[in-house]
Amino acid sequence: MRQRPIGTATRGTTNPNRLRRMDRWIAAVHGPALRRCDDAPAAVDLGYGAAPWTAVELLTRLRTADPRTTVAGVEIDPARVAAARPYERAGLTFVHGGFEVPMETRPLLIRAANVLRQYDEDRVAEVWARLRSRLAPDGLLVEGTCDEIGRRHVWVALGPEGPRTVTFATRLGSLERPSDLAERLPKALIHRNVPGEPVHAFLRDFDRAWAAASPYASLGARQRWIAAVRALSADWPTTDGVRRWRQGEVTVAWEALRPRHA
Ligand SMILES: C[S@@+](CC[C@H](N)C(=O)[O-])C[C@H]1O[C@@H](n2cnc3c(N)ncnc32)[C@H](O)[C@@H]1O
Repeated sequence: MRQRPIGTATRGTTNPNRLRRMDRWIAAVHGPALRRCDDAPAAVDLGYGAAPWTAVELLTRLRTADPRTTVAGVEIDPARVAAARPYERAGLTFVHGGFEVPMETRPLLIRAANVLRQYDEDRVAEVWARLRSRLAPDGLLVEGTCDEIGRRHVWVALGPEGPRTVTFATRLGSLERPSDLAERLPKALIHRNVPGEPVHAFLRDFDRAWAAASPYASLGARQRWIAAVRALSADWPTTDGVRRWRQGEVTVAWEALRPRHA
């Protein structure tokens, strides 16, 4: 007998194009793994919400990296699965399920955006472990949070072995200071933005680097961001480079931001 989906239905808020920054990052960073796959690479959009947009868009963007990619939208609320089914097409299905991820083949990608945010912090480790255990050996779990229209995003990327990186991504024109992103930290970090915790020190240093880079503002927010991230990289282990920074992103090794007092 099929097991009951693991988790709880929560608010279904979503928006078209809300997850574009995350989609583009996944296509860029994980594209080589998709292309290495012998079969059609399978991806899961876990908790796609009250409308199927983010799953449809994930399919489109991942297909720019590998046109064989398939996406399954997995939702714990059966009414949301029924509402999404008319949008099924070649390579796109909608499935009732939860954190058990009820797929026959292990996906190369599980993306859970704005899902764990509505759970308690003490569930995160268990849910991450469960989702990681469902990944293909070369697979990636991307779990994070953003605002309603996707201007501010923070996500954690995890492999089967554990957490790897944290990415901050923003629309630069709307940014006053990098710590504006604090309100979108994923569940594992949002309650750790307090003195004594690494993520708090990181955002403090980022704000200082941003302030010191203010002369670059006359060249545009993008140049200012690049200068600030370059300076920040002297003290914090960024794992990407200027090509990603130009997009209003920066990625940092998880170890540097991992909560101290868990
Ligand atoms: C806020 S919506 C996010 C929609 C979309 N991912 C986005 O970012 O725009 C969260 C959705 O996750 C679903 N959800 C919560 N727990 C889940 C679980 N364990 N498995 C699958 N879906 C889940 C909820 O039912 C809800 O529809």
